Amino acid sequence: MKQLRLGLIGFPIQHSLSPWIHEQFLSQGHVKGSYELMETKQEDFEKQMQAVKEKALHGFNVTVPYKETILPYLDELDQSAANIQAVNTVICTEGKWKGYNTDGIGYVKSLEQAYPEVTKDHSILLIGAGGAAKGIYHGLIQKGYLNITVSNRTIEKAVSFVQERHSVIDLLETEKTTEQYDIIINTTSVGMNPNTDESIISLQQVKPAAIVNDIVYQPIHTKFLMEAERLGANIHFGHTMLLYQAQAAFEIWTGFTPDMQGLNEQLQSILEGR
Ligand code: ATR
Repeated sequence: MKQLRLGLIGFPIQHSLSPWIHEQFLSQGHVKGSYELMETKQEDFEKQMQAVKEKALHGFNVTVPYKETILPYLDELDQSAANIQAVNTVICTEGKWKGYNTDGIGYVKSLEQAYPEVTKDHSILLIGAGGAAKGIYHGLIQKGYLNITVSNRTIEKAVSFVQERHSVIDLLETEKTTEQYDIIINTTSVGMNPNTDESIISLQQVKPAAIVNDIVYQPIHTKFLMEAERLGANIHFGHTMLLYQAQAAFEIWTGFTPDMQGLNEQLQSILEGR
């Protein structure tokens, strides 16, 4: 194969870990290629799209704040991206762009990899109703998870995408009922650097057998996860979702499934060193 040309569009992205991840995948697959950061300000987005077309990349990732902005530039949407109405991966074939969303599927894979004992009827609490929550919600449904409750500060935002068979609750009720859940996932940015002393809810009632997950990975040990750990729960770090959404994107571009052995620990030590 000729040089594979990949990249990332977003803002700000100068500290993105995606180049490191995709370089590991390229070298594992013995694929020659590059992964270019294309940091783009809002006012330059249109121009950047034109430039990307001219560069004839094989594919690219899209991150905050452009996962929805990219939609009108695509020729085709995969079903999961259509459900979520947001795209994080684009494959370019003969000038045509097809959009995918690998965030939710990546999340579920990271969870099942870390905790193979998880079953489809485990009771799941998803906190948040932004783009990340929507992606994970659809990923869970796609993989057959049955028992999902969504919790958000602004109830209406959750109600707007949650199916009738699932419950929506507010944060106050969530704090009082955490003992009901087997899996608790924070998808909000609360607790992210520099606000490391914040936590979306108190986990006082969490059951020790629960799996608690924060998709925030800067810092890797969020206040939320530290409280879960102190209360004896199992924890699942946020950077694993980043790795598995990248694995799914690389699969779409190349057909090659990177081996994740060791990458998790390597990425964890990069993050802990920051
Ligand atoms: P993303 O697309 O990254 O998920 P987003 O669309 O800005 O980000 O959504 C952020 C989520 O974090 C929302 O669920 C938001 O709650 P609201 O819908 O009520 O705004 C939640 N969030 C952010 N800051 C919060 C805070 N300080 N307290 C509670 N929820 C917060």
